[in-house]
Amino acid sequence: MQSLIESLLEVIDSHVSIRRYKPHEMDDETLEKLIYAGVRAPSSANLQPYTIIAVRDKAKKDKIAELCGNQLHIRQCSVFLLFTADYYRASKAMERLGIEPAQPNIYGLYVAAVDAALAAQNIALAAEAMGYGICYIGAVQNNPCRIAELLGLPEKTYPLFGMTIGVPDEEPPKRLRLPVDTILHRDSYEGAKEDSVINTYREAGHLDSLVRRFKRYLSTEGGIARRFPSFIECLERRGFRTTP
Ligand SMILES: Cc1cc2nc3c(=O)[nH]c(=O)nc-3n(C[C@H](O)[C@H](O)[C@H](O)COP(=O)(O)O)c2cc1C
Repeated sequence: MQSLIESLLEVIDSHVSIRRYKPHEMDDETLEKLIYAGVRAPSSANLQPYTIIAVRDKAKKDKIAELCGNQLHIRQCSVFLLFTADYYRASKAMERLGIEPAQPNIYGLYVAAVDAALAAQNIALAAEAMGYGICYIGAVQNNPCRIAELLGLPEKTYPLFGMTIGVPDEEPPKRLRLPVDTILHRDSYEGAKEDSVINTYREAGHLDSLVRRFKRYLSTEGGIARRFPSFIECLERRGFRTTP
């Protein structure tokens, strides 16, 4: 039992995102094993409002790479997984059962995003335990509606994020994380702990890179603020309600 726990913790601890892959084709058996690991993740009310599209077709991977800021690892990977919120499947099943489905909304998107992330991380760990490398792809949000069209997603679905899986062709070092004490607050919120954030990155010589990422994502001109209008627009186009 101890060795099982140690092996699991070792897989978790040795995670590193892989952005270079060797040529390799993933067979159906392996793919289905990985997706099964994802499906076994907990799910809110066990509704599983997500779908995973496994893209192995080269032309489609190339197009997705282009729509995600030309990320080479999307072209190179054995399989690109697209995790989508999916209320189309449940709506169809409900209609067949004589129950009127409500229009999905952004609260439903949150539920689906949490479920999909849990499934994704199970898949990531299973893949890494098998010796594959993975990389999450949030850049799906550069062009969510175009990716949805490319892969024939119906209404009431929304592309959340992607994941590349393949045979690693690089061995990058493990990347920095905040210390446990910065993330862990005991029994109540203990404060922002911003000194620890700055010191951790300064001591590792990575403060410049943190500043760049803060500006790129979290500043008033950053990606999260900038992407908000097109995010809402694509959600509405795909049949999600974004206001109460
Ligand atoms: C939701 C999410 C989206 C991400 N999007 C991208 C992406 O589009 N491209 C990429 O190369 N890496 C992406 N990453 C990988 C992160 O950059 C990476 O996990 C982080 O820098 C820490 O490095 P590590 O995973 O090697 O520890 C993403 C990770 C997550 C969790």
